[in-house]
Amino acid sequence: MRTSEAKIPLFEKIRELYSIGKIKFKSTYNKDKLILNIDSIFNDINEYNQYLLKYCKKNIYDSKVFEIGYGPRPYRLLAMISLGIDAYGIDLDIPIYNGTIQEWIKLYKENGFERLLKSLIRYYLFDLKERKELEKRLKAKNGKFSLKKERLWVGDASKLDITESSLDLIVSEDVFEHIPMESMEILLKKMTLWLRPRGIGLIRPMVYTGIAGGHLAEWFPTNVLAHFKRKSQPWEHLRKNRFHPNTYLNKLWRKDYRGLFSKYFTILEEKVKYPLLGKEWMTEEIKKELAMIPEEELFSNNVLFVLQKS
Ligand SMILES: C[S@@+](CC[C@H](N)C(=O)[O-])C[C@H]1O[C@@H](n2cnc3c(N)ncnc32)[C@H](O)[C@@H]1O
Repeated sequence: MRTSEAKIPLFEKIRELYSIGKIKFKSTYNKDKLILNIDSIFNDINEYNQYLLKYCKKNIYDSKVFEIGYGPRPYRLLAMISLGIDAYGIDLDIPIYNGTIQEWIKLYKENGFERLLKSLIRYYLFDLKERKELEKRLKAKNGKFSLKKERLWVGDASKLDITESSLDLIVSEDVFEHIPMESMEILLKKMTLWLRPRGIGLIRPMVYTGIAGGHLAEWFPTNVLAHFKRKSQPWEHLRKNRFHPNTYLNKLWRKDYRGLFSKYFTILEEKVKYPLLGKEWMTEEIKKELAMIPEEELFSNNVLFVLQKS
């Protein structure tokens, strides 16, 4: 069975899922937050276009795009497709399109009971509402929400074969920190083959050493500035490490990504999404405790690596 869930005790799983559910509830049922969420999808697409123009001298509408790990809510990929972009993608987990019985049975068979339960809750509580907002926004941009299921592949990206030199752009958001090292090198090598000579990769993992790098819901980037009672401490995963996320992490530092990516690509740019995220939580005591980790690492979060075939 393929799945992206981690093997952690049931109690920890339930606590993490509850915290994530609370965040999702706030961001879906607050109109301003929902709009911001959908905005972020179009901001990403706009950003991809800017990098393509800068380094490939090509528009995203004239490019072939591939997303690694489109996620259980594949809105970025669906938005690209709906806007007329020649975009495709792959994910380990099966997406739910229409909530038919056949889809739920298939998901259960492929991804197991935990994924089924999570997806059922997510679909009826959040997805339908988010999708409606996305449809509205696409209409305003002269696009039409389009569910081209044949473009959303299911499987492990490192096991995939794509025609050589067929892609202009490979994007990936919040995925590379979940890929085990043995698959990582295979995937990077394949990516260099899939890209056309001037093609680029825009790979944005959540770096492990940052305050959000442990993937505990209490320290998700949207939660770092919020004030509420937490069980875990800032940079908990690098210090006491008492709690565990419900997902596999390869624990790569920013320097590790640099080392790996530069074996296969030229790194054209590196950009941190939330500069100095967590600075309010950095005390003298924590600084001392984490003295062996450079500041650049501690204040990394979603770092965009702009990669070109060397
Ligand atoms: C945290 S989610 C991010 C989803 C999406 N990119 C987003 O920004 O919302 C990580 C996703 O990566 C997928 N994933 C992890 N390893 C993968 C692999 N080797 N091949 C394809 N997908 C993978 C998981 O199934 C999961 O849906």
